[in-house]
Amino acid sequence: MKPMGTIPAEFQQAPLQIAGQTAEHWVKVASDTPLFVYDFGVIAARVAQFRSAMPERVKLHYAIKANPFASLLDAIAPLVDGLDVASGGELGIALQRKPAAAISFAGPGKRDDELTAAIQAGATINLESDGEWHRACALGDRLGIRPRVAVRVNPDFELRGSGMRMGGRATPFGVDADRAAPLIDSILASDADWQGLHIFAGSQTLDGTALIDALTGALALAERLADQVGAIPPLTNLGGGFGIPYFPGERAIDVTPIGQALGAALERSPLTGGFAIELGRWLVGESGVYLTRVVDRKESRGETFLVTDGGMNHQLAATGNLGTVVKRNYPVAVATAAPDAATETVSVVGPLCTPLDRLADRVTLPVAQVGDLVAVFMAGAYGLTASPAAFLGHPAPRELLVGTPGG
Ligand SMILES: Cc1ncc(COP(=O)(O)O)c(C=O)c1O
Repeated sequence: MKPMGTIPAEFQQAPLQIAGQTAEHWVKVASDTPLFVYDFGVIAARVAQFRSAMPERVKLHYAIKANPFASLLDAIAPLVDGLDVASGGELGIALQRKPAAAISFAGPGKRDDELTAAIQAGATINLESDGEWHRACALGDRLGIRPRVAVRVNPDFELRGSGMRMGGRATPFGVDADRAAPLIDSILASDADWQGLHIFAGSQTLDGTALIDALTGALALAERLADQVGAIPPLTNLGGGFGIPYFPGERAIDVTPIGQALGAALERSPLTGGFAIELGRWLVGESGVYLTRVVDRKESRGETFLVTDGGMNHQLAATGNLGTVVKRNYPVAVATAAPDAATETVSVVGPLCTPLDRLADRVTLPVAQVGDLVAVFMAGAYGLTASPAAFLGHPAPRELLVGTPGG
């Protein structure tokens, strides 16, 4: 038997309830499995937690890449101050929900047509290189529009304990800290509209002290750069990286001390511009439950397998194939099981013919039969759009946003 992560507090009942209704209810609403259900009440609670913990000066941006489901975006957009996008496609869906001035576009390899779309709309381009700056500048000249640009800085530190380090080393992301000042000088000398700095050190950290160090380190770096160029950044995006507990033994971060430490650092700071933190998974990850139906139950060499109608094609990360080296178990449950059901050790596998398609490896679950629903939690971020949905041609999963703020 192997351990699994802890089921989020909102979903710990048996049988499972999501926003006050059973899993079967939501499957009926959606008409079939596999199905992602996102509970908006959980998302709204995270936004409220952020607002009460962080200094008022710090704006909240949502990184759309975590979950771009249309209904979820409609619901979260009014709750946040900005949207961060990573492609022309994401820019398009963000522009339907926020004014361009509240949208920033980061990511290496932006094509000319993507830069053009951002310039025409008036979204901020987080420049990733000198080359990108020269292209944005030339495109702005051709269009007769001043591009709104910020400089993404590859910080000279990294986010400790991060699942995905994106700074403090040689990376394709941003301009190295020691080369940022000349780029800002060149922007200031042009007629482009300088929007400030974007400093993103990494993602998925559960270490509160490391997050404080990264956010205050980003602030200190912004102060140094402001000093070097003799101009205050209108907006300093301090990054993010707030993680969520996917695996056994992991604990949620406490945002209160992070807000207090950042508040103290901001009080001492000479920077008078605005600040933002951009978050994806911390806002939406725990809201999502992936529901898949057991289509077969079989024994092999003494082990029991529940074979479900969805797997890594929709929830790649839960199978351990997205950014993890060792497979550990996400929290899972038999959504249809009664509280007093007998348990057994089983593996939950999806329908793809690869041994990689394993949603849970030798976990203890209530005994399930063909027709039961299995729930995989922590499915609200980097689920469907971060999975190989076209692989083997199974039908696309359904998605539903349910619940209301506080309900
Ligand atoms: C620039 C940038 N912003 C935000 C995010 C969102 O990270 P998370 O979902 O872990 O908050 C990422 C993730 O890779 C990123 O690269």
